[in-house]
Amino acid sequence: MSSARKLIIAIDGPAGAGKSTTARLVAQRLGYVYVDTGAMYRALTLAALRRGVPLEEEPLAELARQVRIELQPSPDGQRTLLDGEDVSDAIRLPEVTQAVSRVSAFPAVRRILVEKQRELGREGGVVMDGRDIGTVVFPHADVKVFLTASLEQRARRRARELRQQGVQVAEHEVARELALRDRLDSERSDSPLRPAPDAVVIDTSELSIEEQIERVLALVYERLGCNRVQQ
Ligand code: DC
Repeated sequence: MSSARKLIIAIDGPAGAGKSTTARLVAQRLGYVYVDTGAMYRALTLAALRRGVPLEEEPLAELARQVRIELQPSPDGQRTLLDGEDVSDAIRLPEVTQAVSRVSAFPAVRRILVEKQRELGREGGVVMDGRDIGTVVFPHADVKVFLTASLEQRARRRARELRQQGVQVAEHEVARELALRDRLDSERSDSPLRPAPDAVVIDTSELSIEEQIERVLALVYERLGCNRVQQ
């Protein structure tokens, strides 16, 4: 699209609410860059597990200062590089998923990664997905969306995704893991998962991907002062 103004669009919400798919496709439609901030916490977690770094605040903060985490736009959304190695698949491993909420709860770790995220979004023209984008990373984001969905629906979607990748999982197991992660992400004292006061909350339980995209784009065009989708 041709608007001169390049917005910062924050998409927050719990795991499995549809953030990454929606954010990626909204970015594609707008010609914006998609930034999956969860991938940064995952890459740091992977580095810690590989190197045997204790999952404690200071060692992790030290590691966060040492490693180079890069996000590169790619046709399927984003590739994640850790010291130059493509770890886009490795960061989705179950052991990373299990440890990432612990790693991301430490304030010293968050400070370092939030700094990198602000750098990535500084010029605008980004759709950033995470847990604290609208509350902490970009409290002045132009558009703030908080996507939610019922636990059952989120577990169903996540299980389907995993099956497509060849991983057989029981839906109730996925639901248990999601509920635990929701609790850890929402109850941590630094930047807990919660909607910004000015975020638009969208429950995606009954929405198709296309409907989710349309809702977010409507907010974007409203913000840009035009009422029609331009491509
Ligand atoms: O979106 P995801 O499931 O890949 O995120 C992985 C973890 O990273 C999630 O459990 C919480 C954390 N996270 C965070 O604390 N802040 C963000 N902005 C993004 C993710």
